[in-house]
Amino acid sequence: MSLAHTPLTPELAEYLNTNFSAEDEFLQKLKEEAASEGLPQIAIAPEQGKILQTLIKANNAKNILEIGTLAGYSAIIMARALPDNGNLITVESEFKHALFAQKKIKEAGLEHIIQVQNSTGRDFLEEFEPEEEFDVIFVDADKPSYKYYLDKTTKFLKKGGMFIADNAFAFGYLLTETTERNPNEIKSIQGFNLYLKNHPQYLTSVIPLGDGLIVGVKIA
Ligand code: DHB
Ligand code: MG
Repeated sequence: MSLAHTPLTPELAEYLNTNFSAEDEFLQKLKEEAASEGLPQIAIAPEQGKILQTLIKANNAKNILEIGTLAGYSAIIMARALPDNGNLITVESEFKHALFAQKKIKEAGLEHIIQVQNSTGRDFLEEFEPEEEFDVIFVDADKPSYKYYLDKTTKFLKKGGMFIADNAFAFGYLLTETTERNPNEIKSIQGFNLYLKNHPQYLTSVIPLGDGLIVGVKIA
């Protein structure tokens, strides 16, 4: 028996990306189009998409809130794991990104599930009163606001629901004192990871796929 864990080598990462991916041709094309229209080339990794779908199905989720739409890549992936009467609200601060995402959501035939809100996450949550509890909340937006998003949305999440956030590894800089990235972003993520870990209402773990997904299950 080996007690050591298996490091995620580039070869193993490639294996996961190839075999356990939520990306199809439509989503590949979405990324290409987003790039050609000048949107930032940022999206969750295909294998992160697959684990999100796995968690959504495992939770029998029907209602999802996403903060940070960008081109709609993750919204489309998550909506595909919802039942046909499911709902996904996704909040995007940049009008250009929201418009692009809306176009792709229509093309994907998911308009009846996904509602794009063009607003900052903070402005949106300041006013928001959901009709139903959320099963999953996924945050992939401005890093210094993650704590605010958690504090503001915990009451909207059902018990047993999941608060998930991207970039738990801080673009690879989590354990460094880099000056290559905005130190405020890195510090925010370092602080947020431990804040969620220590939160009495959550049981928290990190899934080391892509840039890391932190997952808190609401237990109280
Ligand atoms: C970057 C990556 C992300 O996943 C994100 O949410 C924001 C920025 C990046 O690589 O710059
Ligand atoms: Mg991200």
